[in-house]
Amino acid sequence: NKVTISVIKADVGGLCGHTLAPDELLEACEAVLEEAVDEIILDYYVTRCGDDIDLIMSHKLGCDNEKVHGLAWKAFEEATKIAKELKLYGAGQDLLSDSFSGNVRGMGPGCAEMEFVERKSEPIVVFCCDKTDPTAFNYPLFKMFADPFNTAGLVFDPSMISGFRFEVHDVVGHKKVFLDTPEEMYMLLALIGDYEKYAIKRVYRRRDNEIAAVVSTEKLNYIAGEYVGKDDPVAIVRAQSGFPAVGEVLEPFANPHFVPGWMRGSHWGPIMPVGEEDATPTRFDGPARVIALGFQVCDGMLIGPNDLFADRGFDKAREKALEMADIIRRMGPFQPHRLPATMMEYTTVPKVLEALEDRFIPLEGLELIEEGGITRKDRGDVE
Ligand code: 13P
Ligand code: 13P
Ligand code: MG
Ligand code: MG
Ligand code: MG
Ligand code: MG
Repeated sequence: NKVTISVIKADVGGLCGHTLAPDELLEACEAVLEEAVDEIILDYYVTRCGDDIDLIMSHKLGCDNEKVHGLAWKAFEEATKIAKELKLYGAGQDLLSDSFSGNVRGMGPGCAEMEFVERKSEPIVVFCCDKTDPTAFNYPLFKMFADPFNTAGLVFDPSMISGFRFEVHDVVGHKKVFLDTPEEMYMLLALIGDYEKYAIKRVYRRRDNEIAAVVSTEKLNYIAGEYVGKDDPVAIVRAQSGFPAVGEVLEPFANPHFVPGWMRGSHWGPIMPVGEEDATPTRFDGPARVIALGFQVCDGMLIGPNDLFADRGFDKAREKALEMADIIRRMGPFQPHRLPATMMEYTTVPKVLEALEDRFIPLEGLELIEEGGITRKDRGDVE
């Protein structure tokens, strides 16, 4: 008796600029989902993080279901109509196609889904972000499922002691690899510490291969074939009895980490955990936000949410994030505030280079150094 949780998100317009999806858009989505209760879905909750709308849905139709994805697409289309009427900024931004064709993947919206047999009690945490991309979850998912200093349960809960399996996607090479912790932890880190290429897609419990977490990893910039934007991500994590406790799922965000995104999707900045009311990024269009909504899944219904980061226990994390924001903002257009060229969402640098092409002059005395003339020694070569 399986239930599916689908979280599908899109940015279809902001009030004003890229700051907020207004109530009118959320209401348009809710009206579409309400119509579909009992027909397609069992229950739903609509929220926003900045200019992104998040549709949290429960149903019995499994992952990648055409009806569920079509429903989300319809909701975003209705919201887009209003966004266009109001001339909201970037109206229809994440709907890259004019018509729906079976599945939202590759069409602009982000999507995280998992199907499971409901446990005696089924706590889940849904994370929704703005002003960052799916690699924002690499660091916290590692902490949740592989770091015993974060998750005491890895040491004390017999059903977690055999560890977790990470499904890592190479979003540039379009391939995936499974890595098991704790044994392959260092190889896992070698990949997921590189945000240019690798993003965690799913985490499984090794003891029984149960799904533990899923992220909307499809990067908009790559699926569209050209650089059209950052896919502000969502994730679902199961908690308690055999999975990390809710507090262990949230704990990685108590010490904010740096993520790509922020202004023009082209800067490093801290990710700040906030309650739903504070998911309103405006300073330099940020800094990046993450909200965490706790639900109890009960016979397929979504009981809740509990707005988990609204807790005062995260006040210090917010303070720290703001301090990190001040520090890195000072760098302006210099790295490491600015992202490497391969990760920037907007850049005029190629045009600048084009304009300067005829003005570059070869450096004298370095003629001997041709391409490939300098070889870097591998660590293994050092005597
Ligand atoms: P309670 O004693 O509040 O039920 O908490 C138990 C627990 O496991 C907290 O992580
Ligand atoms: P979004 O990805 O949230 O639309 O923001 C884009 C941007 O350019 C912010 O400065
Ligand atoms: Mg936007
Ligand atoms: Mg956004
Ligand atoms: Mg975006
Ligand atoms: Mg409900």
